[in-house]
Amino acid sequence: MLSSEVGRYLETLIPEREQEIREIEAYAKQNDIPIMELTGIEAMLQILKFIQPKKILEIGTAIGYSAIRMAKALPNAKIITIERDKERYERALFYIERTNTNEQIDVLFGDALDLYEEVAKHAPFDAIFIDAAKGQYQRFFNIYEPLLSNGGVIITDNVLFKGLVATEEPIENKRIRQLVKKIRSYNEWLVHRDDYETVIFPIGDGIAISRKRGEGE
Ligand SMILES: C[S@@+](CC[C@H](N)C(=O)[O-])C[C@H]1O[C@@H](n2cnc3c(N)ncnc32)[C@H](O)[C@@H]1O
Repeated sequence: MLSSEVGRYLETLIPEREQEIREIEAYAKQNDIPIMELTGIEAMLQILKFIQPKKILEIGTAIGYSAIRMAKALPNAKIITIERDKERYERALFYIERTNTNEQIDVLFGDALDLYEEVAKHAPFDAIFIDAAKGQYQRFFNIYEPLLSNGGVIITDNVLFKGLVATEEPIENKRIRQLVKKIRSYNEWLVHRDDYETVIFPIGDGIAISRKRGEGE
């Protein structure tokens, strides 16, 4: 994990976002809605620009921030995104309308663990972005990776969980301790898959980029 000093320094180098994007960031901050960290989203958008995915699946919309950022960075991409919290889902629709990204983004309301059939209608995806309940990452991966195109990538956020995955100190809070255990186990499982090549970047809250290997690789 980057030190908070380096993280803050990097944030000062990130160009100012448009007014409508800054409003979403401010709403998230005021209402304690977890959206991607600035350094994390900038890195992810850059990677996506190299890949130029035509279709992206996002698990965990919250209020639409990352989906809108992806839509603006990749004007030719279509994004299917899933959210199970009604209030956040409605906020996301509001911001998507407001940023004129509704042609590019479809928000599905429901639990991602139950929506496979509906999501499959939009497949294949060139990129899948996992950013929902941290304890369920492996299940999300297993359910949706069959919908990934050959050579596609799966991006997972929060894999360093504020650096807690690396700590050797005992973690007092039981819920946090269990989440750390699950994320560590997900990371181990991910890097040892033969069919994917994974690299973890210590930026934002830690981002794993997993590329599906082609035949014979
Ligand atoms: C970290 S936030 C997503 C942030 C968003 N990607 C962004 O950066 O703007 C995670 C969201 O996933 C949603 N979520 C968690 N588990 C889910 C599930 N099983 N199905 C659908 N949504 C889920 C939560 O309600 C929450 O709004």
